[in-house]
Amino acid sequence: MGRFDGKVAVVTGGTSGIGLAAAQQFVQEGAYVFITGRRQAELDAAVKQLGKNVTGVRGDISKLEDLDHLYDIVQREKGHLDILFANAGLGSLLPLGEISEEHYYKTFDVNVKGTIFTVQKALPLFPNKKGSIIVTGSTAGSSGIPAFSIYGASKAAIRQLVRSWILDLKGTEIRVNVLSPGTVVTPAYDELFGANLEAFLEQSKNEIPLGRVGKAEEIANAVLYLASNESSYINGIELFADGGIAQI
Ligand SMILES: NC(=O)c1ccc[n+]([C@@H]2O[C@H](COP(=O)([O-])OP(=O)(O)OC[C@H]3O[C@@H](n4cnc5c(N)ncnc54)[C@H](OP(=O)(O)O)[C@@H]3O)[C@@H](O)[C@H]2O)c1
Repeated sequence: MGRFDGKVAVVTGGTSGIGLAAAQQFVQEGAYVFITGRRQAELDAAVKQLGKNVTGVRGDISKLEDLDHLYDIVQREKGHLDILFANAGLGSLLPLGEISEEHYYKTFDVNVKGTIFTVQKALPLFPNKKGSIIVTGSTAGSSGIPAFSIYGASKAAIRQLVRSWILDLKGTEIRVNVLSPGTVVTPAYDELFGANLEAFLEQSKNEIPLGRVGKAEEIANAVLYLASNESSYINGIELFADGGIAQI
């Protein structure tokens, strides 16, 4: 018996890194999972890796018609949704003085607009207004990081949205929580740091109270906790899975 037997989950950005690790654990624990991402080849590879109880739906969360397409498929194939992990997101480095309009829109269109409509458009699918929504924040949303202000602001926005959403959802049994990872090496880091990756990781290890960076599986463990009945009275929090860096 799995913790999520018979449950239906959507994991946006489920083709890589944290989303893929969470999708894998949901499937291992008995859930049926819909994963999304923009790149077809990565989507196909992730579906193959998960092996069973998975549907891949290509789409960009910043495009409302792609979200409609996603939820149409969930409605058609399963008729409802129990868990939404609104995880898709991106970030890039640009210091103040070099921030461009394109950089701003690229980040906010996906991380903020995309997350808002991923959540809003999912609501009619929760049966009897019951379910768990987890959105991916970041320790960057509550700390200063050089050249990462736009990304940090987008994640701070996500955290703030959830404070009001739990009031908008009063009277339902839909819980919404933010899961904020710290430093977790995923494919996103190759693009973000390039040749500076090793130096960044060394510096991170020295700063993090636990003395190491995290693994995608450790973030997934926290996601599954927030998705499960074990967290049934937890609503609106920001849970940090970060080795302690946000607490010092
Ligand atoms: N890794 C960390 O240390 C860390 C720390 C804090 C927060 N986070 C957050 O964790 C989440 C996952 O990041 P990750 O590190 O696992 O990165 P990743 O390995 O690059 O995965 C990102 C996923 O999101 C998808 N994605 C990106 N933009 C999308 C869009 N517009 N529409 C649909 N899917 C999109 C990607 O697929 P496509 O590119 O094919 O679309 C991919 O599946 C992000 O929200 C990130 O900000 C990560």
